[in-house]
Amino acid sequence: MLVLTIESSCDETSAAVIRDGRSILSNAVASQIPVHRKYGGVVPELASRNHICDIHAVINDALKDAGVSLDDIEGFGVTSGPGLVGSLLVGIETAKALAMAQGKPCVGLNHLEGHLTAVLLDIEGLERPDFPYLGCIVSGGHTDLYLVRAMGDYSILGRTRDDAAGEAFDKVAKMLGLPYPGGVEIDRLAKDGDPEAIDFTRPMWTRKHFDFSFSGLKTAVLNHIKANGQPEGQGLHDLCASFQKCVVDVLVFKAIEATKQTGCKTMVYSGGVACNSMLREHAKDQGERRGFKVIFAPPKLCTDNAAMLGPAAEFYLQGQTGFDAWDLRATSNMPLGKDERVDKEGRHR
Ligand code: KG4
Ligand code: ZN
Repeated sequence: MLVLTIESSCDETSAAVIRDGRSILSNAVASQIPVHRKYGGVVPELASRNHICDIHAVINDALKDAGVSLDDIEGFGVTSGPGLVGSLLVGIETAKALAMAQGKPCVGLNHLEGHLTAVLLDIEGLERPDFPYLGCIVSGGHTDLYLVRAMGDYSILGRTRDDAAGEAFDKVAKMLGLPYPGGVEIDRLAKDGDPEAIDFTRPMWTRKHFDFSFSGLKTAVLNHIKANGQPEGQGLHDLCASFQKCVVDVLVFKAIEATKQTGCKTMVYSGGVACNSMLREHAKDQGERRGFKVIFAPPKLCTDNAAMLGPAAEFYLQGQTGFDAWDLRATSNMPLGKDERVDKEGRHR
């Protein structure tokens, strides 16, 4: 099927044309980073307004880059949650209007399912994972560990109890006076730093459950700055490297434990923080040492984009009939899969 997918859940406006849930014919992305940079984070009202300005151009670019017209499109897929309601609505209403005008089906999709299954697309130089696999979504809004049994069959094993990993990167960067998005800056500065320079406590370092917590680490960085002053020069590089190493250690430790305990053979990382160079290196090294395949999508498919929705759009469009596009609603906290998280006693929640 030739499908047009649309993503507008946060601050990226994106449209893609995907064939058979596998081939990326185009993936146009308009980033709002310059709009939000001066506020140090995403401002929801500005995000939705900018989606309105960008969405038509992005869809036209996606069609043009793919060399197809709207009449060639056989179905539409759009992120309907989780995300910022005002942002989601722009994508949803656009997809609805196109689907109705064209008389084609339109399916609402879970953003997290997009991140989890992006690696099922044809990606040059990347091996497609076999099911089941362990999916670790690390982004500005999520830090989730999923067991991916098959398309449409997911269990959440752990998630952050407070800040997401990307949120911690962005907030620590703000404390250090670095521009948004902070993860990119910290990654860059950490390259010349000593990750052992400051010994931050690894939060939730336990095999008993797979939840994360990053807000205490953020406070530890703030306390360090209060006690030692704003770091400069080598001190800034060292702080970035030490903070980043702490986050990376926890993300890799928990993902490896979850992979072992579920009997999976493959770990897949996705979401914006999966662009992090230390995470890529450390996860590959630690995972492969234990005999696991470790897969990272290329950075353009890790940050928010519409192509990542391709496998899920194809799956749901093929599997069902009689979509009613009028039924599509934005769901800001849309859950995904069965909740199989356990507490520290090993009891299901
Ligand atoms: O997946 P994404 O584009 O949007 C969300 O769904 O949140 O992720 C954005 C997040 C931001 O917090 C950003 O700081 C972080 O990903 N990020 C990084 C890197 N590149 C982006 N974090 C650490 N290292 C990076 N290289
Ligand atoms: Zn995302």
